[in-house]
Amino acid sequence: MSGTDRGADEKEIVLRPCAKLNLTLEVVGRRPDGYHDLASVFQAIDLRDLLRVSPGDDLRFSCDQPELGGEGNLVWRAARLIQAEAGVATGATLHLAKRIPVAAGLGGGSADAAAALVGLDRLWGLGWPRARLAALAARLGSDVPFFLDGPTARAGGRGEQLTPLPALPAHWAIVVRPALRHPPPADKTRRLYAALRADDYRDGRSTARLSELIAAGLLVGQIDPSLLTNSFERAARDLFPEVGEAAERMLAAGAPWSHLAGSGPCLYTLLPGGRASEDRRALALAESLRASGLETYLARTLASPPLA
Ligand code: C5P
Repeated sequence: MSGTDRGADEKEIVLRPCAKLNLTLEVVGRRPDGYHDLASVFQAIDLRDLLRVSPGDDLRFSCDQPELGGEGNLVWRAARLIQAEAGVATGATLHLAKRIPVAAGLGGGSADAAAALVGLDRLWGLGWPRARLAALAARLGSDVPFFLDGPTARAGGRGEQLTPLPALPAHWAIVVRPALRHPPPADKTRRLYAALRADDYRDGRSTARLSELIAAGLLVGQIDPSLLTNSFERAARDLFPEVGEAAERMLAAGAPWSHLAGSGPCLYTLLPGGRASEDRRALALAESLRASGLETYLARTLASPPLA
């Protein structure tokens, strides 16, 4: 399914923002501006929300999960930002159908914000170059620029400096959302950064190595988990004890390994895909995780830009 369609109404633009995984997520240092520098390999996966953008006199935003439909939503903030920057007098109606788990480490809110920028750029006929949209995207959040491109990129800076990589060979991503006794706090990401200890920091070498393997086309078959790393793994397990339990249940069900997705609390594993036997294995693992009571998502790694 492509990331953008014209809807039944000629003027409606339908976008399908997708989730991402950080195959590596190395926090390499603290910055004077309060952010952290990181080194990461981002990979988009085919787990998607749906954003409808249509003409309107005023700017309006709604969500099928009403508690997400307020002015704090990144879609709303993206729409206000691009409207102000473009000096557009007309509005638009944006409706979001949420499928990507929220506050889960999958970048769904950032993906939605990127889709809002792209949708409004098209609706209002702005035709802005990618660099101009990316500058707005970076003001909305460190992860947002990635979702304008993708599907695979190496990220530096606070996550907004991107170097495209060739798409990962086809894999199945199996994502598990641990059932938390308490919902994640609204400022989960900030708290996890603040909880990092000296030995959670990394030097960026894993990201460099993985990027080289992807660029050389050498990342084939079952991915060696020692190539992957995530600076938040310890802090997330401390903050959410359910993460460690869910990881053990994934391994017991036959996952080859389990890593934290972004700043969590979701976990993921990757299995090679494309051959019938590989596809059967991935489906069977997802089914067995679901049968054991874990909230489980099965998605493919994307091979083309999510919003193209
Ligand atoms: O950029 P974003 O709004 O997604 O970041 C949320 C919070 O996460 C920031 O306020 C900051 O505390 C932390 N953060 C950071 N370094 C980054 C990205 C985020 O410290 N590279």
